[in-house]
Amino acid sequence: MPDEASTPTAAHELAEAVAGLAATLRFHRDLGVKDLPLEGRYLLEPDDALRAQEAALQGCRRCKLCEGRATIVFGAGNPRADLLVIGEGPGADEDAQGLPFVGRAGQLLTRMLAARGVGFTRDEVYVTNAVKCRPPGNRNPEAEELATCAPFLAAQLRAIQPKVVLALGSVATQALLRTREPIGKLRGRVHPFGAAVLIPTFHPAFLLRNPGDEYKRMAWDDLKLARREYDSRRAR
Ligand code: URA
Repeated sequence: MPDEASTPTAAHELAEAVAGLAATLRFHRDLGVKDLPLEGRYLLEPDDALRAQEAALQGCRRCKLCEGRATIVFGAGNPRADLLVIGEGPGADEDAQGLPFVGRAGQLLTRMLAARGVGFTRDEVYVTNAVKCRPPGNRNPEAEELATCAPFLAAQLRAIQPKVVLALGSVATQALLRTREPIGKLRGRVHPFGAAVLIPTFHPAFLLRNPGDEYKRMAWDDLKLARREYDSRRAR
């Protein structure tokens, strides 16, 4: 068993990787190489990366949601957004228009984002869904459908690199946090999420079905929490 001194740490591994990179660059310099080919897809700007991802998704038939959809609803908004909003999956209006959150729930989302003490416009955030194709009859996406679409959401996250993720409703929140805890327990707090934080709140469609002040107030608290996290993480 390796003792503590010989156990590789993240710092050791990084130092070794950098030393290896330096050795490779010296080797190529000594061979006479003068330019680094830096046009690889890994260096795309966020807008180009998202455009390439959306183009690559066209015609997707990886899960059965492809059978009932009219369009693949990839996402919309600012590719450099520090706030990424993630819903469940497109509804009928979104499927028809090819854009996320444009129906009644979408209109409520726009108002929630713009609420007093929150103050986001749709243009400054990026909005997408856990699955990109409309589940028939607006049923919840199945685990297999969520898993099939997860790499595409992960690629969007890598391109956008948001500081705060706002997860709408239990389906998106549970899929992103890989938990079965109910939304009522998950909301109201900040969850670590890679280099970002994730803040769950109620789905606007749920708020439309449950129009009492109680849920509305909780959602408002969540959005104000998202605003505070957004401001403090942008100030760092
Ligand atoms: N509900 C969602 O979860 N996403 C949409 O885009 C629209 C409604």
